[in-house]
Amino acid sequence: MNKDPRYSSLVGRIGGKRTDAWNIHYAALDAVERGEDVIVLSVGDPDFATPSSITERAVEALRAGDTHYSDVPGRVELRRALARMHSEDSGQPVGEDNVIVVGGAQNGLFAVALCLCEAGDEVLVPEPMYLTYEASIRTSGATLVPVPVDAERGFHLDPADIAAAVTPRTRAIFLATPGNPTGVVMTRDELEAIAEIARQHDLWVVSDEVYSGLTFERPHISIAALPGMAERTVTIGSLSKSHAMPGWRMGWVVGPETLIAHLGRLALCMLYGLPGFIQEAALVAVAERASIVAAMRDTYRRRRDITYRLLQEVPGIRCLLPEAGMFMMIDIRGTGLSANEFAWGLFEQARVSVLDATAFGETASGFLRLGFVVDEERLVEACRRIAAYVGSLEPVPA
Ligand SMILES: Cc1ncc(COP(=O)(O)O)c(C=O)c1O
Repeated sequence: MNKDPRYSSLVGRIGGKRTDAWNIHYAALDAVERGEDVIVLSVGDPDFATPSSITERAVEALRAGDTHYSDVPGRVELRRALARMHSEDSGQPVGEDNVIVVGGAQNGLFAVALCLCEAGDEVLVPEPMYLTYEASIRTSGATLVPVPVDAERGFHLDPADIAAAVTPRTRAIFLATPGNPTGVVMTRDELEAIAEIARQHDLWVVSDEVYSGLTFERPHISIAALPGMAERTVTIGSLSKSHAMPGWRMGWVVGPETLIAHLGRLALCMLYGLPGFIQEAALVAVAERASIVAAMRDTYRRRRDITYRLLQEVPGIRCLLPEAGMFMMIDIRGTGLSANEFAWGLFEQARVSVLDATAFGETASGFLRLGFVVDEERLVEACRRIAAYVGSLEPVPA
């Protein structure tokens, strides 16, 4: 063929500048593959196996022939269980018609963006933001308007910045609490201020709550539970992080019934139902979540505390204590290097891979994202290597 095939303008919107940051992660995985002793802290994939009761249930369902098409929005028992869970957690009563299972949370975010936003709309997103928001929102045709969140505030947003970014074109606010990469849990005051802005300007709020079970200090609050918010909030949940199930692609969306019906029609075209055996396993995950999630949370908290204790003693770098989740932000500006230079130097000299957090937004430049995704012994070793690497750097001229 001598002529480039034509594609729609969509293909230009699904790429993103934020994907380059992953090169270090792929390089680290290649090195591991070659048998090198690399400690990979650059990904958000928990190192735990999925709890066996969940896996066993999936295997049992598979053996029993649960391999047919399943209900597109998800089996009613599962949607009921998820609705109960959401109602308990948020205090906002919902039923099965307010819930759809859509693959992972990522699939949910994407589908929700398509149903809520279109060309001409603006969507406000606090930045640093999770990597795929950009492409998901831009695919709908809408413009993503990043609202910078200041590192000096510990990456807690100032709701006044959101208010200042609202225009007549603003359609929605997308946020993640707890956040990735920051590990910030939004406070009630922050959420109330955002809710007030949403009500005043008639905006949707899409609240990504995939880390809600993994808070270490203050409990998570769902913005959907605040007065007047249920009808304008879309909550995204997932078993990926809380139950160590990222490969199962089991997430859900909670929202007004009409939106859920629209999402159902989109899911009919895109997904045609999640595998039945995964939904059966998810029912076990939801039923046993109190003990499963408590165990994960305790493990992450211990890992966080160890890493924080060891790294905060290292001169030239500064750790932000995450309030939730599996990541820690490390400020390396004191070393005189950019985060990209630091991350590659650390990988090449000390065989530890972390991400340059600039990928999540310019406000995170000078920060690295480190994941607590290996056991405590390996984390201690990673901290030792990081300290040695920092110690090997040229001192910054005074
Ligand atoms: C904030 C946030 N949202 C969504 C996702 C995607 O979750 P899932 O695996 O359920 O698609 C992630 C995964 O890292 C995340 O950090």
